Amino acid sequence: MNERISELRAAGEAAIAEAPDTVELEDVRVRFLGRKAELPNLLRGVAQLPPEERGTVGRAANEARKALEAAIEARAHELEAAELDARLASDVIDVTLPGSPVIQPGRVHLLTATRREIEDIFLGLGFRVMEGPETELVYYNFDALNFDETHPSRQATDTFYISDDVLLRVHTSPMQTRAMEMHPPPLYVVIPGRTYRRDNDATHTPQFNQVEGLAVDEDVTLGDLQGTLLAFAQAIFGEERRVRLRPHFFPFTEPSVECDVSCFNCTDGYLRDGSRCPLCKGEGWIEILGAGEVDPNVFEYVRDHGYDPDRHQGFAFGMGIERIAMLKHGVSDLRLFYDNDLRFLEQFG
Ligand code: DAH
Repeated sequence: MNERISELRAAGEAAIAEAPDTVELEDVRVRFLGRKAELPNLLRGVAQLPPEERGTVGRAANEARKALEAAIEARAHELEAAELDARLASDVIDVTLPGSPVIQPGRVHLLTATRREIEDIFLGLGFRVMEGPETELVYYNFDALNFDETHPSRQATDTFYISDDVLLRVHTSPMQTRAMEMHPPPLYVVIPGRTYRRDNDATHTPQFNQVEGLAVDEDVTLGDLQGTLLAFAQAIFGEERRVRLRPHFFPFTEPSVECDVSCFNCTDGYLRDGSRCPLCKGEGWIEILGAGEVDPNVFEYVRDHGYDPDRHQGFAFGMGIERIAMLKHGVSDLRLFYDNDLRFLEQFG
C-alpha cells in the first residue's frame, strides 16, 4: 500500500512539473486529487484497513496529498506569472497610435483662432492681454464711460439687465476703467471677451466677442492710433492694406473715429470684370472698428489711480472678433459661428 502511495506521489509530482499551462495543471489536480482520484480514495479507505496498517498508510497518504497540493500551488504561481508575462508581451496596445478608423483630433474654433491672432499682433506691438467680467456693473459699462443718462443703449430693450445696477456687458469698453484702476500709466492693454446685446438676426447674435484696446501715456496721439491700426490691419489682412479714420461719435472718446481698411477683394470698389465689389459694395473701404482719443472725462473717474486728464492722454479702440473673422475668411452669416456644423468648422484651423 505504501508503495502505491509513493508511486502516486511520484507520478503526481512528475505530472505537475510537466503541466505546460494552468488549464492542464487543473486537469492534473483533478486526476490526482479530485473526488474520484486514487489517492483521496485511499485516504477515505484508511478506516477499513487493519488497525496496524492505518497509522502508516494514513500518514503516508496524507503527506502525499499535502505534498501534491503544495506542488500544484507552487506550479500554479509559476504558470500564472508566465502566462501574465506572455499576455503583456502580446497584448501591448500603443495608446499613442491613431484609432481605426483614424479619429481626427479637434481643432481650434475659428473665433478662438482669430482672437489669438489678434492678441498675438498686439503682443508684438507691446500691448498686454487682460480679461474681465462679463457680468458687469452699470457703473463700468456706462457711467464711467461718460454715457449720458438718456443714452439709448442703456434701455432694457437693448441690454440684458440682471438688476438695476448689474448687467451683461454690452461691450468690452468697461474694462478700460477697470484696467486703469488696476495699473497706473503708462498702460498698453488689449482685452478680448464675450459681450451681450438684445439682438438676433443674420448680422447680430445676442452674444458675440470683442477685443478692446487701450494705450495711455503722456503723449499718445491720434497719429499713434492710426499707425497702430495700420500695423494691425496689415498683419491680419495683408501687407497691401491701408487704413483711414472717419469722424464718428462715442461717449468715451474725443475725437472719435471709425477705422476703415482698404478692401482686399477689389481695387477701389470694382472687380476686374468691372462689376461692383460685393464685399465693400463699391466703396473700396471696409469698416473694421471704432476708436478715438480717450475722453478726459473718462480719466476723471480714475484720477485717484494716477491718471491725470491734464497730463495723460491715450487712444482706445474696440472691434468685433466675428466681424474680423467674417471679413478675413469670407464668412457670410454670423450664425455659422455658433451652429456647431462640422462642415463649416472643419474648413478652418
Ligand atoms: N465699445 C464700442 C462698441 O461696442 C466700440 C468702441 C468704440 C470701443 C470706440 C472703443 C472706442 O474703445 O474708443 O460699439
